[in-house]
Amino acid sequence: MHYYDKEPVFKELRVRRITTIIRGIPLTLMLAPGVFSSEYVDEGTRLLAENMVVMSDWDILDMGCGYGVLGIVAAKLAPRGRVVMVDINKLAVKLAMINVKLNGVSNAEVRWGDLYSAVVGEKFNTIISNPPITAGLEVNRKLIINAKEHLKPGGLLQLVVPKKLRSRFEEMLLKNYDVVEVAAKSGSHVVFIAKLIH
Ligand SMILES: C[S@@+](CC[C@H](N)C(=O)[O-])C[C@H]1O[C@@H](n2cnc3c(N)ncnc32)[C@H](O)[C@@H]1O
Repeated sequence: MHYYDKEPVFKELRVRRITTIIRGIPLTLMLAPGVFSSEYVDEGTRLLAENMVVMSDWDILDMGCGYGVLGIVAAKLAPRGRVVMVDINKLAVKLAMINVKLNGVSNAEVRWGDLYSAVVGEKFNTIISNPPITAGLEVNRKLIINAKEHLKPGGLLQLVVPKKLRSRFEEMLLKNYDVVEVAAKSGSHVVFIAKLIH
């Protein structure tokens, strides 16, 4: 079983409740086996959450939302905007819905879907993602290329990737976007911000 399975089967659902602070925002989050990540906020996720650019009135897409931490932080940073959170894993969708409520977020909705199938015709100021590396390069290539159809003019694709895959992702981003910047680095991860000028 992978965390990106559409319908992971659970004999027993062991939910874990954690509290944390990101960008000064106190959060309570339910995590569970079968949804990335099941014990704590992943280091890459935290790096993106701490460094992503979000304006207060932006429309934001959290692609591959998992239990929802990135979308929830984005929603808190954009009280006059809205967030759509998408995941292919039905348990992730369920957990993200619970976490949205638990954290008093009213400007975010969670949808089930395969990449952009749940947001056909919709455009965002930014797409944020800790992408599903283990789903394979093709899925990640589609995530990057098809993001262009869902970004408003000047919109940003913001991704965190493991350092060891930096050059592979940088190459895909440079092929598809006008500007690609490294916004943050840690010992293990890199945050990219990619932009289309027009
Ligand atoms: C690395 S995890 C990140 C989860 C969460 N955003 C976080 O940072 O903790 C990637 C997520 O992408 C989801 N995913 C995998 N393939 C997908 C697809 N084709 N469409 C939508 N989501 C997908 C997985 O289920 C997983 O929740």
